[in-house]
Amino acid sequence: MTPTTFTQDQIASLGARAETMVNSLGTVSAEPDRLVRLFLTPEHRRAADRVAGWMRAAGLTVSEDALGTVRGRLDGPGKKRLLIGSHIDTVINAGMYDGPFGVIAGILAAEHFHAKRLTFGIDVLAFGDEEGSRFPATLSSSSACAGIFRTENLQLADRNGVTLADALHAYGKSPDDIAAAAYARDEAAAYVEVHIEQGPVLEARKQPLGVVTAIIGQTYLNVEFLGEAGHAGTVPMLLRRDALAGAAEAMLLGETLARETKGEVVATVGRIAVAPGATNVIPANVVAIFDIRSGSESARAKLVDTVKAGIRGIADRRHLGLTITSPREVATTPCDAQVQDRFADAVLALGAEPLRLGSGAGHDGQAMAKLCPIGMLFVRCRGGISHNPMEYANPQDLGLAVAALIGFIERFEPEKLG
Ligand code: GLV
Ligand code: MN
Ligand code: MN
Repeated sequence: MTPTTFTQDQIASLGARAETMVNSLGTVSAEPDRLVRLFLTPEHRRAADRVAGWMRAAGLTVSEDALGTVRGRLDGPGKKRLLIGSHIDTVINAGMYDGPFGVIAGILAAEHFHAKRLTFGIDVLAFGDEEGSRFPATLSSSSACAGIFRTENLQLADRNGVTLADALHAYGKSPDDIAAAAYARDEAAAYVEVHIEQGPVLEARKQPLGVVTAIIGQTYLNVEFLGEAGHAGTVPMLLRRDALAGAAEAMLLGETLARETKGEVVATVGRIAVAPGATNVIPANVVAIFDIRSGSESARAKLVDTVKAGIRGIADRRHLGLTITSPREVATTPCDAQVQDRFADAVLALGAEPLRLGSGAGHDGQAMAKLCPIGMLFVRCRGGISHNPMEYANPQDLGLAVAALIGFIERFEPEKLG
């Protein structure tokens, strides 16, 4: 297919439409003063319905699978389909671009091909669980599409004790249908995603777009300390078994060990639960989730082992019970070389430099890579800020990203993928 030559006006118009849609989804929140849109909530339902409406208006046939992924389908003459997606769930107190822009870019690009003849079909996918902000596992929706959903995750509970299985039922879904959400391997030609960079590299290099080489690997450690509740005024310090003091020591150990890797590994505890959670009661039970990431599999594995050993030592010394499980373990995921090159061609054709860079954030492509080759296009965001309401990408860059995705689709040849 002859690639489209975009005028500045067309790019500006795509960018303006994308920005309007991003702002529209940004109002769909559980709270009036900040953006919170968690998996399988009424807000997720409202966002999914809005996205489905946009897909229909773009000429796509809409369905929804057992994990709530909204799918907009454009049929081609053959069985092969290019999957384009991102997520519509958010972190707590989120920005508006992380996830939604990728779905919107897919819809605007698919619309471009509605009246044209491609040799393959397109599915635009709006996943509902990339952030893992509700249940202590992530990528549930893309894992179902990739056929790697872990059924044991159905028993994971949110902060209110609602299990994923119960939440799915309340959303009108049945876990029995999860297997049917998986794509057939000979159907999925590739999965691609457009996403804001969430880091500072493109801005520093003064480039609007970047081609992703690989997505960083990640381990979650769910660490539970068991101590003993007691009166905060009467139990002497040396006789206490304080689960929170143990967890605090473990968190500092994780930070120290990650710092010692000099940038090779990062470790974060962003969520802890303390019980009973009263000011005058010695904490009896603490769960802390360690998020450990690295571009190097061996460096991550080494740090995970060292952190676990250190935590065991802390628990022994403090006479605390301890369980460590890993609800999430995702390998560093390379992006397909051919997909990277076609994205680079499309970026170059728009007069930008196709800078190559890795992703420090996790993405649905990590699950989809178990199904088919994957690739990603990054868009510059202001100050590299993400997971923060200040998140922003300018409409000109958004328009370029949609144009680059269209250019990629025009250059994409499923039969040439290794
Ligand atoms: C998702 O944004 C993640 O990297 O955790
Ligand atoms: Mn994201
Ligand atoms: Mn995110």
